[in-house]
Amino acid sequence: MSLPPGTVIAVDGPAAAGKGTLARRLAAHLGLPYLDTGLLYRAVGRRVLDRGADPRDAAIAEAEARALTEADLERPDLRGPVADMAASAVAAIPAVRAALLEFQRRFGAERGAVLDGRDIGTVVFPAAAVKFFVTASVEERARRRHLELSAQGIAADPVQVLAEIRDRDAQDANRPVAPLRPAADALLLDTTALDADAAFAAALAAVRQRFPGLGA
Ligand code: DC
Repeated sequence: MSLPPGTVIAVDGPAAAGKGTLARRLAAHLGLPYLDTGLLYRAVGRRVLDRGADPRDAAIAEAEARALTEADLERPDLRGPVADMAASAVAAIPAVRAALLEFQRRFGAERGAVLDGRDIGTVVFPAAAVKFFVTASVEERARRRHLELSAQGIAADPVQVLAEIRDRDAQDANRPVAPLRPAADALLLDTTALDADAAFAAALAAVRQRFPGLGA
């Protein structure tokens, strides 16, 4: 048996918890399209910065969200501390979220999908078949983000990386619209002491439990 057509799997969680790695791997294994929804917010943040504007400017951010193209998602400058904070700032603007909601729903509705983000299981696809909330201690997430940045040749101060992750957690969790929080029916996956393989095995076991007829 394969998954029912249109199956959506939601993977939410804070920055650098391992949700992207997990979501990408689940999608490949299950033959589902994958969408990193954080990229949408990052690309909007970049477009606002390109205009020399403040990412907290709601009117400009909304206009840029509405003008977003597929090519924006391929930009090479969507990672790093400046893009991180710009994404988190535009993500707190309700009109930006509304503009991006339709894109995400259309993506998932076409052929099903695995989507990772902050509000996939709570807002974008509240009826997703399986929901994960992936988290890890803030120190472990900062360690991973620092490693990631080093691997990209970006020199960063570990203390600063930790501070930025804390700031972004606070901004994402305390915004009034679609704040970061686990859906009531999400499976909590704490990856502080789990490597990528163990997290994947646990997630796949949960998908199999939901769809008992699923093959290997
Ligand atoms: O997952 P990420 O670190 O690439 O996300 C970048 C920012 O975008 C993050 O700080 C919060 C925001 N975001 C969001 O609000 N909702 C999503 N579904 C995905 C990301």
